[in-house]
Amino acid sequence: MAKSTFFMCLNLSLLFSLVTATYYSGLASTLMGLGEEKFTHLHFYFHDIVTGPNRSVMVVAEPNGKVIDTLPFGSVVAMDDPLTTGPERHSKVVGKAQGLYASISLEETGLMMVMTMAFTDGEFNGSTISVLGRNMIMSEPVREMPIIGGTGAFRFARGYARGKFYSIDFTKGDATVEYDIFVNHY
Ligand SMILES: *[C@@H]1O[C@H](CO)[C@@H](O)[C@H](O)[C@H]1NC(C)=O
Ligand SMILES: *[C@@H]1O[C@H](CO)[C@@H](O)[C@H](O)[C@H]1NC(C)=O
Repeated sequence: MAKSTFFMCLNLSLLFSLVTATYYSGLASTLMGLGEEKFTHLHFYFHDIVTGPNRSVMVVAEPNGKVIDTLPFGSVVAMDDPLTTGPERHSKVVGKAQGLYASISLEETGLMMVMTMAFTDGEFNGSTISVLGRNMIMSEPVREMPIIGGTGAFRFARGYARGKFYSIDFTKGDATVEYDIFVNHY
């Protein structure tokens, strides 16, 4: 009697622990408000402002004390770059590119971009896109970087970003980059 009660308790506790210990469950995507997948093209200009009163980048690590415009291998720069609808810096701001870039090529000036594009206007206000990729600014006229995710309207985002210089001042380091982003999201 005592023995069977013991086993019954053991089975119940096993069952209980199986139920409560589970940390995952399958969900219908519609439950999460995920409808049909959308495909969106975003087009804007990114301003990397190195000089002047409204500087948007800061050098974090500067190998051998060299200046930013040469971006020697190992340089790390933090950015909070405005994204605008037009190529002019005073055109409408639609977001910010916040993150880091590092000089990662020994042979040429090439960057690793680690950035969140945070939008502040229109349908995508409050939503973000995460970009992680190599940006060979000297050898590639158009650089392609993967979109690795997003938040808000860009949950489950995947796609790619293409960036090309609209203008660059090699002595100051100021650059305006035209971005086209093609992204799948819900
Ligand atoms: C810097 O930003 C301020 C405030 O947005 C603006 O009034 C000013 O024109 C900007 N200066 C330059 C040189 O872009
Ligand atoms: C974007 O969203 C914020 C927070 O909800 C709001 O304060 C702001 O006015 C919005 N901006 C635009 C341009 O809609």
